Amino acid sequence: MMEIAMTMNELAFSAAAERNKQPILEVLRTLLPEEGHALEISCGTGQHVAWFAAHLPLWTWQPTDLTADLFPDIMVRITEARLVNVQPPQLLNVLSDAWPIGHEPQDLIYNANMLHIAPWACCAGLMRGAARLLAPGGRLVTYGPYLEDEVPTSEGNLKFDATLRAQNPDWGIRRREDVEDQARAAGLRLAVRHSMPANNLLLVWQRSD
Ligand SMILES: C[S@@+](CC[C@H](N)C(=O)[O-])C[C@H]1O[C@@H](n2cnc3c(N)ncnc32)[C@H](O)[C@@H]1O
Repeated sequence: MMEIAMTMNELAFSAAAERNKQPILEVLRTLLPEEGHALEISCGTGQHVAWFAAHLPLWTWQPTDLTADLFPDIMVRITEARLVNVQPPQLLNVLSDAWPIGHEPQDLIYNANMLHIAPWACCAGLMRGAARLLAPGGRLVTYGPYLEDEVPTSEGNLKFDATLRAQNPDWGIRRREDVEDQARAAGLRLAVRHSMPANNLLLVWQRSD
């Protein structure tokens, strides 16, 4: 359910990623140390990783996704922007018990807009993988729409949720409290909750210990 178009130079392009990359970067700047290594889960078109890598140049970035369909576009995006701090994208399924990435541990694991467009088991998979790979003091950042018990759901998110569920019964906007349960079971806790434009949240998860 990622609306992908082609840019003038034919690269896969998400209008939503283009809109939200700067607000997300602004929060990342407040959270992250000067340098570190980041793993991106479900990188999609690569617009986020290209933007963050250009603006946080002392960080190195490893984009990954479930399928390699958009990897050629991501390579072009990285090369055209002359980004030397982004590794070529790699396949990674959060449901796998061993994430095939070279650099461990991770200072940041970043995942945008996957939890509601993947089966619910992916949430537990993401949390387990993050708990395995996060450096001490490292952060998992998830971004996207959530339902929350004590916050009325916007009309837009209610409609989006219905559209998702009609398209695939395994999809749907997740309850933040349910995501917290999965995190807790994996040994993580919700450290910070940021309200973001268009009724999205940016959630920061850290080790419980
Ligand atoms: C809506 S796109 C989000 C892309 C990008 N992060 C963004 O915000 O524009 C959802 C992404 O989740 C990925 N995804 C779905 N199931 C996954 C899984 N089991 N493991 C890793 N990624 C998965 C899809 O391949 C897709 O790239």
